Amino acid sequence: MSQLISARALWTLVRAGDLRARVRANREGTAAIRLHLAGAAVGTGLLDVLAEGPAPTAELARRMGVADTALLGAFVRVVAAAGFVDGGTDGPWRLTARGRAVVGDDLVRAAYEAFPGFHTALYREIGPLLAGGPGRRDVAEQGALIARISAGFEPFVLDELTRVVAGRRPSRVLDVGCGSGLQLAAMLAAAPDAVGVGVDLDAGAVALAERTLAGQGLAARSQVVQADIRDGRTGPLEQPFDVAVLANVIYYVPMAERVALLRTVAGLLTPGGVLLVVTTVATPQLFSRHFDLLLRAQEGRMELSDADTLVTQLTDAGLRPAPPRALAPGAPVVTVLATRPG
Ligand SMILES: C[S@@+](CC[C@H](N)C(=O)[O-])C[C@H]1O[C@@H](n2cnc3c(N)ncnc32)[C@H](O)[C@@H]1O
Repeated sequence: MSQLISARALWTLVRAGDLRARVRANREGTAAIRLHLAGAAVGTGLLDVLAEGPAPTAELARRMGVADTALLGAFVRVVAAAGFVDGGTDGPWRLTARGRAVVGDDLVRAAYEAFPGFHTALYREIGPLLAGGPGRRDVAEQGALIARISAGFEPFVLDELTRVVAGRRPSRVLDVGCGSGLQLAAMLAAAPDAVGVGVDLDAGAVALAERTLAGQGLAARSQVVQADIRDGRTGPLEQPFDVAVLANVIYYVPMAERVALLRTVAGLLTPGGVLLVVTTVATPQLFSRHFDLLLRAQEGRMELSDADTLVTQLTDAGLRPAPPRALAPGAPVVTVLATRPG
């Protein structure tokens, strides 16, 4: 199929509207199709089923338990056109390297679940939100997926934590909102003589953190408690800590309550002890603005603050914050190390 565009057709096209904007709109539309298609290829189990071995359409329909084989064939042809599988027009279908990356790398899979899922559902459903409808429940209901997709930053966070801990030789470390417990485990690994406490509101997170610590042979040096950190010095929080981390938690707390929260955490530190805050911050970047909107659309009063506001809040809480440091190149995520005056 080859055809030259006539000069007259091109001229008409150029004069009819904003050609660049039309090209951009179509390119972005195609990218959106590709994203949602990949989400569907994950969500329907198509890629997982093909990871078990190549299959013609009829066999694929049997393995996936779908009724409409003809529609499945058309669906797989789109997935093939996007490069996740190959098999000509009729199969047998097999995963390409791109398809295997989705199945084999959980960060890729999580991205194809989260972005066509709650990240973009925000915009599909923004009308009722703007009209004052009930808040979204992504944070409440998608905690596991949010944790999986945040894992991309984990190497940077663990590196920073290891640096902070290794330079201080703490005897007690604290992880506030410990989630999976990976950060508490990293602190304990970097401080072989220390004991650690993880605190989380969520019973599932507490159980997960306990499994993480046990799996790394750190159960004897750690304790994980289900508690609201705002309740302060209770149970294993009675003895002070030399190092505390508050990673990806502050934006879940209403802005007006953040100084009180930070003051409570500061009160759990030894004089000279440090708090490392890790957080996404409000910047003009598209993803930062999007994440802030996603937070504001939730039930509860969540939002991002900018880095300067965070520094002011830490100061108002009685800590001495160092200048914020970018966690990873190009990402609107910072760390701030704040010291409790001795
Ligand atoms: C996004 S997760 C972050 C987990 C982990 N710190 C990380 O960076 O991967 C936030 C965690 O903070 C917990 N959390 C939120 N508010 C809390 C509070 N007031 N007290 C204790 N935990 C809290 C949530 O239950 C959730 O597990």
